[in-house]
Amino acid sequence: MATTKAPRSRKLKIAARGPGKTPITLIVNGETREVLVEPRRTLLDALRKDLGLTGAKKACDEGTCGACTVLLDGKPIYACMALALECEGRAIETIEGLARNGKLHPIQQAFIEEDALQCGFCTPGQIMSVKALLNENPKPTLEDVKRALSGNLCRCGAYPKIFKAALRAAKLLESRNAQE
Ligand code: FES
Ligand code: FES
Repeated sequence: MATTKAPRSRKLKIAARGPGKTPITLIVNGETREVLVEPRRTLLDALRKDLGLTGAKKACDEGTCGACTVLLDGKPIYACMALALECEGRAIETIEGLARNGKLHPIQQAFIEEDALQCGFCTPGQIMSVKALLNENPKPTLEDVKRALSGNLCRCGAYPKIFKAALRAAKLLESRNAQE
C-alpha cells in the first residue's frame, strides 16, 4: 500500500494552516469538491462525513485492514491514514466513481459473478486495490493478485473468491477494451 508521504514543501504548507477549519479543494472521481476541514481531518472522514461518500469503510481506523482503501494519484492508500489536506489537488478515486452511466465497472461485475463477498464490508477496499493493480498490470497472475490484496483483510475469509474475481475482472476489462 502506498503512503501519502508529502514532500517537505507540502508539509510546511500544511503546517501553516489551521488549527481551525480551512477550505480545501479535493478532486474526487474527476469532480472538484470544496470542503472545510481541520488540519487533523483524515481523508476518510472528509470523504464520508463532509462529502457523503460512504463507500470507503471505516473499520480499524488505524491502517491495518484496508476497508478504507481509495486511490490517490492512481495508487491505493488507506484513507484513514491520510490527512485530507495532504490530498489537496491530487486525484482521488473512490468506489463511487467506478460505475458509468448506470453500468457497473467490470471489476464490480466480476465480484458479483464470482460471489466474492459475504458481509461486503471489505469489498469496496478490495475492489479499489484490484483497480490499482489492473491499471498497472492488466494481466496479473494469481501471485500478483495476492500481493496486491495483501493489505486488504477480509474477516469473512472470502479470499479464494476475491482472488478469482480479480482474475475474472482482468479478462472482462480486456474484452471491454477490445470492443472500444
Ligand atoms: S479503516 Fe483504514 S485501514 Fe482499516
Ligand atoms: S466479505 Fe465480510 S469482511 Fe470481507
